[in-house]
Amino acid sequence: MTVKDDARGFGIDIGGTGMKAAVVDLTNGALLTERHRIDTPQPATPEAMAEVVRELVEFHGWGGPVGCAFPAVVRHGIVGSAANIDDSWLDVDADRIFTEALDRHDEDGVVMLNDADAAGLAEMRFGVGRGRGGVVMMLTFGTGIGSGLFVDGTLVPNTELGHLELDGHVAEHRAAASAKKREDLSWAAWAERVERYLRHLERLFSPDLFIVGGGASKKADRWLDDVRIDTEIVPAELLNNAGIVGAAIRAAGLH
Ligand code: BGC
Repeated sequence: MTVKDDARGFGIDIGGTGMKAAVVDLTNGALLTERHRIDTPQPATPEAMAEVVRELVEFHGWGGPVGCAFPAVVRHGIVGSAANIDDSWLDVDADRIFTEALDRHDEDGVVMLNDADAAGLAEMRFGVGRGRGGVVMMLTFGTGIGSGLFVDGTLVPNTELGHLELDGHVAEHRAAASAKKREDLSWAAWAERVERYLRHLERLFSPDLFIVGGGASKKADRWLDDVRIDTEIVPAELLNNAGIVGAAIRAAGLH
């Protein structure tokens, strides 16, 4: 089956170690090509990463608009935080730099958004969040904790709930998947920290649903049952593809 051109989108997922891109079927969230991956350049400066974005787009021979999921606050294209990325990104107009690197104009240029917001868009449209109203909170557990907040299907962008302070610590320093590795925690010990964090979010937001994604969601069977909270909690469905798919949704103007 061939997919019509206007039902195809393109997303790039930018992480600390890799930049991954694919063409996406926007009718069902499936990838239409392989995920092409290039190492994130070190130092991960805007200019060096713009060059990789160009290579990824060229590799796929993609001519339409490009979405980019990025692990930071992104407001109208401008990067607003640098917790787990190079400091040189702060206040940079990422949409403009990446669009210029492709030698394009705004209409078919690059649109950047926060990575957890992108993952949430993907889950709400094609994954476990499909058709879910009320307050839905997407959380990604990886190097940091990312959050994407949805109210009746509409995204409230850049919530940054991984940076809540809890018990005197920044929450993601204690409960991200990276903390499990860094401190060599058992699944049970880590699940306890996640539970403490989610209970705090429950008190603050009274959500209807938590969707947990990021690297740790692939092994949800190892820890999710040990997280005892009152709110419904489900593992993400799109796993590794959520960032790419969400970025493609945004670039296509579907959300
Ligand atoms: C960043 C967020 C990001 C999350 C997951 C956090 O450290 O501040 O913007 O969504 O990591 O990558």
